[in-house]
Amino acid sequence: MTAVASAPDATTPAVKVGPTKLLINNEWVNAASGKTFSTVNPATEEVIAQVAEADAADVDRAVKAARAAFEEGPWSKMSASERGRLMYKLADLIEKNKDELAQLESLDNGKPLRESKNADLPLVIACYRYYAGWADKIHGKVIPVNGPFMCYTKHEPVGVVGQIIPWNFPLLMQAWKLGPALAAGCTVVMKVAEQTPLSALRIGELIVEAGFPPGVVNILPGYGPTAGQALARHPDVDKVAFTGSTEVGHLIMKYAAESNLKRVTLELGGKSPNIVLADAPLDAAADGAFFGLFFNQGQCCCAGSRVFVEDKIYDDFLAKVTDKAKTRKVGDPFLKETQQGPQVDDEQFKKIMGFIDTGKKQGAKLACGGERVGSRGYFVAPTIFTDVRDDMTIAQEEIFGPVMSVMRFSQIDEAIRRGNATKYGLAAAVWTRDIEKAYSVANKLRAGTVWVNCYDVFDAAAPFGGFKQSGIGRELGEYGLANYTEIKTVTVKI
Ligand code: NAI
Ligand code: MG
Repeated sequence: MTAVASAPDATTPAVKVGPTKLLINNEWVNAASGKTFSTVNPATEEVIAQVAEADAADVDRAVKAARAAFEEGPWSKMSASERGRLMYKLADLIEKNKDELAQLESLDNGKPLRESKNADLPLVIACYRYYAGWADKIHGKVIPVNGPFMCYTKHEPVGVVGQIIPWNFPLLMQAWKLGPALAAGCTVVMKVAEQTPLSALRIGELIVEAGFPPGVVNILPGYGPTAGQALARHPDVDKVAFTGSTEVGHLIMKYAAESNLKRVTLELGGKSPNIVLADAPLDAAADGAFFGLFFNQGQCCCAGSRVFVEDKIYDDFLAKVTDKAKTRKVGDPFLKETQQGPQVDDEQFKKIMGFIDTGKKQGAKLACGGERVGSRGYFVAPTIFTDVRDDMTIAQEEIFGPVMSVMRFSQIDEAIRRGNATKYGLAAAVWTRDIEKAYSVANKLRAGTVWVNCYDVFDAAAPFGGFKQSGIGRELGEYGLANYTEIKTVTVKI
């Protein structure tokens, strides 16, 4: 065994589980079908709770509520600053309940509690506050057109928005989606991930408590092919925003095309290159690259899964990251010393183990890891492959687990070319002390985000999203907001 495992059980606190029903029009309701599904603690494989399972009829009901709130409700008449005030209030309520929310997040998702507390929750609160500030600062331009006319633009809310989010950062993905939508004045029907519905539903309770009018935010736990598809196909939804796999991203565009040409933004997968040049500060680069892949159990769309290391420092670099992987503490998310929790569910666990198997079969070599940790819970040992060719499955497909490939290169141009040689373009990084090389590599990498001498640095103000098949549009910042408005041109004869 490469990693230290601890049995998850005794220390898991009795976390208070909040609502488990659908939130439609500010009411907690059962699914029309009466169906429920179980959400599971990935550290113990035990069922936490039964949750109402939304399907097409519930989506339709929620869309009607969202439409009414958008067209006629108090939301549509509310001043922009009042909208912002409600959002600040929500952020304050989240802050007030942050410990409980962090526990719920770790219970349902498996991420170490210290990360829920120190990474997820602060980013979530900052995101709501950032977009609360935007609510009354969204405005158009006056355009000097020819003739006796006054021409101006307005940035109006796009309307009823369908949002479909994944399970890797449940609260944060909810914030990235709700923040800009609410600031812009849209109303929302959100389909949360079937693996992790609990924290999003608790936020629903806080949304009601903050005083958002009925129908503004509707939250539906449920499955993708049923509730998710119904939302993306709904003819009265004006826009769909999706985060998840590239495979489902293709489907979402198809649903939009086959229904009403609703606007589509997609934040999809990645196979991000992390390029370490020989002149990089070695310890910082090794620490940063390790964090860039292993953070959140490797379940990050921007995970730096292909680490390209220059010849001269390859062996030293590999020794450093392998040492870190071997001593990483894998186990109960609620233990203070835990650095890595379980993968989110059995499906992800099996997918990752399958990739490890394929890597071995195709001739890659294991520097460490490669096996399950313990016999209960979905724990995967921190895994590092060497001798990985660019055409191998593990170098092309998103693994979404604690599996790093450390690859050797000798020329910078070669690293850039190989770094760009996938269908993805979400993120990338370069480590160097040479500023000219840093700019040059950053310019040539085809990715929505490039980090220089750092990794996974996020801020609500800095846009994030993908080139190529990593997505369409951007989230966060002013660019993210733009995806929730329609531009109206008004021309007045004077
Ligand atoms: P997924 O893309 O199937 O699920 C993401 C969300 O989409 C969930 O809410 C799901 O219910 C929904 N969904 C699934 N099928 C749908 C459909 N036909 N119509 C509408 N909504 C649908 O991803 P999944 O199965 O959870 O994970 C598979 C792989 O996707 C992962 O191993 C990883 O490679 C990638 N992924 C990427 C994420 C990212 O942050 N970009 C997040 C989650 C997964
Ligand atoms: Mg899926």
